[in-house]
Amino acid sequence: MIELKDVTKSFGELHVLRGVSLTLPMRQTTAIIGPSGAGKSVLLKLLVGLIRADAGEVRCFGTDMGRADDDELYAVRRRFGMLFQDGALFDNLTVAENIEFPLIHHRRDLKPKERRERVLAALEQVGLPELADRPTGRLSGGQRKRVGLARAIITEPEVVLFDEPNSGLDPVTSDAIDSLILTMKAKLGVTFIIISHDIVGTLNVADNIGMLYEGRLIQFGPTEEIVQAPNPILRRFLQRNVSLPDAAHEAYALPAARQRAM
Ligand SMILES: Nc1ncnc2c1ncn2[C@@H]1O[C@H](COP(=O)(O)OP(=O)(O)OP(=O)(O)O)[C@@H](O)[C@H]1O
Ligand SMILES: [Mg+2]
Repeated sequence: MIELKDVTKSFGELHVLRGVSLTLPMRQTTAIIGPSGAGKSVLLKLLVGLIRADAGEVRCFGTDMGRADDDELYAVRRRFGMLFQDGALFDNLTVAENIEFPLIHHRRDLKPKERRERVLAALEQVGLPELADRPTGRLSGGQRKRVGLARAIITEPEVVLFDEPNSGLDPVTSDAIDSLILTMKAKLGVTFIIISHDIVGTLNVADNIGMLYEGRLIQFGPTEEIVQAPNPILRRFLQRNVSLPDAAHEAYALPAARQRAM
């Protein structure tokens, strides 16, 4: 169970979150969307206890993240896989070493050979089996994103947090990552929390969508309802990414891939 209760967070005079309450449905994919600077990445960092809320409560699996000590934070983070917006990869390590990193820390029971097997399987899943021993510093932006994803899922986490999974990716790679998310959710019951400024890019995978705007969650609900909500800010977000004939009045159709998945 992951929930936020009336969470506020400011940096000096900048009031980023002004009272956000949210319960994230488990074993589903939830996208949090909002304009640049809305506080999406801040929200993600609050969830894993990298920063603490000024007021309100962030609760993950029963742990109050604002009051947890290092051991408690560690116990919660073990259950999360994280893909940060910038990938946060170590450029001086190889691809395989980057992906192996969380395993070395969180799965001390595994032997090097077992770790290597898992790393190669994760690379296969993200479609980059041939890159294992390549220096990470030489990868393209899309390759970095996929390596970050492989690293996020290597420990088989219950919850995967994903900051901007599709930005900077070509449509084929984006589709491959969408399928991976759908498969992991269906087969392993993984909970995905996806942060994006592009609502349309999340429609293939999101069961729920929340819209963060001016420090508040102005909409939250099942994707099917959100795409039809009359909220003008939400409508502008939907229209900006696609050209629809009369989007303000017509229900937005879910993409074919998503319809097949349902
Ligand atoms: N550690 C920090 N210190 C000061 N200000 C910060 C800090 N972290 C975030 N901010 C500010 O908080 C606001 C929200 O930042 P955040 O990174 O959450 O935006 P975002 O919604 O993720 O935007 P984007 O879509 O561009 O990634 C921004 O104005 C940012 O400059
Ligand atoms: Mg961000």
